[in-house]
Amino acid sequence: MKKIILIFLTILSFVYSNPYAKCVGCHGVNGEKAALNGKSKILIDMTKAEIKSAMHGYKDGTYGGAMKGLMKGQSMSLSDNDINEIANKFGK
Ligand code: HEC
Repeated sequence: MKKIILIFLTILSFVYSNPYAKCVGCHGVNGEKAALNGKSKILIDMTKAEIKSAMHGYKDGTYGGAMKGLMKGQSMSLSDNDINEIANKFGK
């Protein structure tokens, strides 16, 4: 029982401390997928600066294609720190 609680807490803390956790389904665990059958660029093909400016642009409505509304929803809850962390992790 103790083990189960420990595993549960580990998963929970991972989800809450990792701003990229909710992106995995579309962009892949390692940022290697083009989301929703090719509707987005592949994150690991982008530079750090491109990822940062795309995320800030989705937040303030100055960036994006046909599905930018979806990414606005995804980006609104991210802090500048979260965005830097994600860009540094996946960008070239
Ligand atoms: C439901 C699927 C989905 C989720 C979840 C999602 N994205 Fe996206 N993402 C997309 C789509 C679709 C696009 C292309 C949107 C457009 O038309 O501009 C995109 C675009 C992007 C881009 C710009 C790439 C480009 O094509 O210009 C970045 C960077 C990005 N997403 C990062 C993230 C991050 C970081 C998260 C998590 C906080 C996230 N996404 C969550 C589907 C998703």
